[in-house]
Amino acid sequence: MKFSTFSTQKLFTLATLLLFVTAPQFSLARTAEEWRSRTIYQLITDRFAQAPGQENPKLCSDNRNEAEIRRYCGGTFSGIINKLDYIKNLGLDAIWISPVVKQMDNLTSIGVGWHGYWAQDIYQINPHFGTADDLKKLVKAAHDKDIWVMVDVVANHMGPQEKLPPRTDQYVKAYSPFNKTEHYHVFCLITNYDDQGNVEYCSIGSADDPLPDLDTENPAVISELNNWISWLTREFDFDGIRIDTARHIRQNFWDEFTRSSGVFSIGEILSDNSGYVASYQSHMDSTLGYPLYTKLIRLYTNPNANMYELRDVINNDRNAFKDTRILGNFIDSHDQERFAHKTQDKVLFRNALTLVLLMDGIPIIYQGVEQDFTGAPTGNDPFNREALWPSSYSQTTPTYQFIANINALRKVVSPSFYTSLSIEAWIDEHIYAFIKEKVLIITSNYGGNNPNRDLVIQGNGVWPTGEVLVNILKCDEKITIDGSLNVPVKIDGEPKVLYPEKSLKGSRICGL
Ligand SMILES: *[C@@H]1O[C@H](CO)[C@@H](O)[C@H](O)[C@H]1NC(C)=O
Ligand SMILES: *[C@@H]1O[C@H](CO)[C@@H](O)[C@H](O)[C@H]1NC(C)=O
Repeated sequence: MKFSTFSTQKLFTLATLLLFVTAPQFSLARTAEEWRSRTIYQLITDRFAQAPGQENPKLCSDNRNEAEIRRYCGGTFSGIINKLDYIKNLGLDAIWISPVVKQMDNLTSIGVGWHGYWAQDIYQINPHFGTADDLKKLVKAAHDKDIWVMVDVVANHMGPQEKLPPRTDQYVKAYSPFNKTEHYHVFCLITNYDDQGNVEYCSIGSADDPLPDLDTENPAVISELNNWISWLTREFDFDGIRIDTARHIRQNFWDEFTRSSGVFSIGEILSDNSGYVASYQSHMDSTLGYPLYTKLIRLYTNPNANMYELRDVINNDRNAFKDTRILGNFIDSHDQERFAHKTQDKVLFRNALTLVLLMDGIPIIYQGVEQDFTGAPTGNDPFNREALWPSSYSQTTPTYQFIANINALRKVVSPSFYTSLSIEAWIDEHIYAFIKEKVLIITSNYGGNNPNRDLVIQGNGVWPTGEVLVNILKCDEKITIDGSLNVPVKIDGEPKVLYPEKSLKGSRICGL
């Protein structure tokens, strides 16, 4: 008995050893656990940076030129490599890049697939962005700077072909590898987003440009997509996948798909319903935090909205999701009206940004937030997908430094910051304050109207009497914990991020 156990173990050790010796050079597949402490910069390859030495700064520099911005603007993988320090200095340590696969090049009345959501061949890399080798170089260059790379992937649909009848031989022959009519669902446009069958079986897009909906019940399509995602993540050494239009495919499709990917997965389920979005977390690691996003937009752009709604969504999310601490939190995205277009009030903007950067979850900063982009004239797609080069990649704008400052604090806190749940410290109609590890975060929706309020926030025993907390967003504001372990603060409308002064020594935050 003893002997056989021993030999089994020995055999196992040998097998493990052999595996390591014979496996080609590979890096670790990143798990949800490892992603917890990361912060993500969301970029659109075509719009982030043009190839060094081949810049055409005029192209897409006028955001009102709709015909122009509906086509390629010249961003490339080598452009991203050249600007990785812009992301690194913002304090972010992961990027989510727009889809990399080859797109339909046919011009439609709404442009071409520069955004990446209109695939033609899922095994080829979009030549507008560079070669497969360039993409590998990008991932390598990012890893060398300890920046992880999450790739955006689409399994729900392919690109549109205007004026051709969908699901005909003539239509489907343009795609690879899905070039048979049976690879697609019988054509219909989604008409009712409350009907899950309609959402899964019909096409998104418009009557002129429906996006052909893959038949993800067809075993040939299923196995092809699983093989593809397994190939894609390993071939390019990606650390994570962001799954587009996840609610448009039956949930159990994602079990095998995400397992095949071998990396952390975060799905887009566009809904403000906590229970609905949360149900997908049983089929992938995480989702975008749409329920929280929806509330924070409402609360922080509208001084008349009531902060108790924030408590509600946080509680609802905690009850519904398996784990809220790995949800992707955001203030802006390529699919939503930019925050800075909804309100011009920078104080409100900073409050919302503070919440996103420090609330439970993985913060996602969409390109342009750091440059106060507004997405004018509409704030929405396609205008919220501005080229970044007109900003000259300035690293001195107040918002850029604001984000970098908070991210620097995220590097100082102890690891329990990423595994603990925030504790509500104060709530009223206008204020929401919370404690996470030894950080006290105070946000409000007064905006530019300074309410001049004195508040005593309960310290929950987190800091001892006499401890000095510094507001890292306004370094000369220091608060001493009083004899009842409370935190006396003056509310002026700006967010506050308070942290023990002595623990900031050596961090360079506030010159300490
Ligand atoms: C779209 O482009 C593909 C080749 O990429 C071509 O086969 C197809 O005929 C084009 N469709 C239309 C509607 O022009
Ligand atoms: C469909 O694609 C396969 C390869 O994926 C190819 O062998 C076949 O010839 C294509 N069929 C048509 C009709 O283009």
